Amino acid sequence: MIKPNRLSNKNFLSTLDVSTDEVIHILELAKNFKNKKLNINLKNKVLGLIFDKSSTRTRVSFQVAMSRLGGTTIDLNPTTSQIGRGEPIKDTARVLSRYCDVIAVRTFKHSDLEEYTKWSTIPVINALTDLEHPCQALADFLTIQEKFLDFKNVVLTFIGDGNNVANSLILFGALLGIEVRIACPKGYEPNSLVVNKALEIYKNKNLLKISNDPTTAALGANVLYTDVWSSMGEENQKAEKDKIFNGFTIDNDLVNKADKDAIILHCLPAYRSKEITDEVFESKKNRIFDQAENRLHTQQALLSCLLH
Ligand code: CP
Ligand code: NVA
Repeated sequence: MIKPNRLSNKNFLSTLDVSTDEVIHILELAKNFKNKKLNINLKNKVLGLIFDKSSTRTRVSFQVAMSRLGGTTIDLNPTTSQIGRGEPIKDTARVLSRYCDVIAVRTFKHSDLEEYTKWSTIPVINALTDLEHPCQALADFLTIQEKFLDFKNVVLTFIGDGNNVANSLILFGALLGIEVRIACPKGYEPNSLVVNKALEIYKNKNLLKISNDPTTAALGANVLYTDVWSSMGEENQKAEKDKIFNGFTIDNDLVNKADKDAIILHCLPAYRSKEITDEVFESKKNRIFDQAENRLHTQQALLSCLLH
C-alpha cells in the first residue's frame, strides 16, 4: 500500500517547493484518500489556520482534512487574535511553533508568508497569497487527472486575470510538462518571474502560451479554467476591471471552440455573468464541484507528507 513520503522541503509555500515526482506522489496519495484506501493517523497533531483574507473552501477543507486524519485545527481569526493588532509575524510564528505542528497561512504579500517561514520551526503551508495558490492547483490537477487519466496531450487553457491561481497553474503545468495557455487582457498577464521560472522548468518551452486572445487559446483545449477578474484585495479595481475584461467571459461560444470533451474548472467563488456565464457554470462539462471536493483529498495528502 502507498505510504506518504517526506517531501524534500519542510514548507509548501510555492509550487516550486515540490518536484515533479513529489507532485505525482501527492496526487496518488490523494486518490487513495478519496477512495478510502489510505488510513493515516495524525492523532494529537494540530494545524493552526491563519486567514488574513476570507475563505470557505480552504478553511473547511483543511479543517475536515485534519479531522479525518485524527488531528485538530485551531482557526486564528486575525480580528480576535493579536495578529489583527499588528503583533509582528516573527513573534506569532515563534509562539505558534511552540503549540502547533503545522500552520497554513492565507495573506496578501507573499513576503509575509516567507516571514512566517523564516521564524517557524514547524512546516508552513501557503493557503493563498497574492502570488500563488498552490493548494488549489493540487486539487485542479487531481481533477484533470481524474478526467483524462494522465497529463499526456492535455491542453489547459486559463482565461481571465493573470493572478495567483494562474501563476500556480503555470508552475504546476511546467512541472508536469503539460500545455498551458493563458489568455488575459493586455497588462494583466501572469507574473513575469513566474513565467520565466516556468520556462526554465519546461523541457519544451513552446508548451507555455501567454496571449491576449481567448478564442485562439480555447481552440481544441481540454480544460477551460477561469477565476474572478478582481481578487481579494482588489475590490477598489472592480468597476475598472469589469470593463477591461469584457470579452474574457467563458461562454458557450468559447466552450464550442474547445475540444468536445472539454471540462470547465473554476476555483470558486465565482461571479456569474462576469468571468463565466451561468449556462456554462451549470453545464454538464462542469467539474467545478469535484475540483472543490478534491481540495480535501489533496490537502490530506499534503498534510500526511508534511507531518507523517
Ligand atoms: N478556492 C478557494 O480557495 O476558495 P476559498 O477562498 O473559499 O478558500
Ligand atoms: N484569485 C482569487 C482566488 C480566490 C480563491 C483571489 O485571490 O481572490
